[in-house]
Amino acid sequence: MPDPVRVPAADLPPGAVRRAGDWAVGNADGRLFAVSRRCRHQLADLSAGSIDADGCLVCPWHQSRYDVDTGDMVSGPRGLLGYHGPAPVYAQLVRVLGRVVPLRVRRALRRGEEVVVLD
Ligand code: FES
Repeated sequence: MPDPVRVPAADLPPGAVRRAGDWAVGNADGRLFAVSRRCRHQLADLSAGSIDADGCLVCPWHQSRYDVDTGDMVSGPRGLLGYHGPAPVYAQLVRVLGRVVPLRVRRALRRGEEVVVLD
């Protein structure tokens, strides 16, 4: 059995997101989560994302938002490639894709001084 993926708990204060192997591990106001790292839009690294006021993980490139409990994309991108701005029809199309292929979700638990991603 492989070793679980870990992040030092001190690196994960509320509001933080960190990279842990293939996972973006975060702390949404005390609620730990782990989701797969690649955005369903254009594969940005979600471990470089942020957590919004609703507890959603926000992609760093075009701000698609993800439910960290289900992996569903709850709102689509605000742009594409190098364009950053409104694109409502395109955002809806991408959101449909995000629902068909949600992010993978794993449990993340604090164990001592570490946060561990469980299989
Ligand atoms: S790559 Fe994530 S929203 Fe575009």
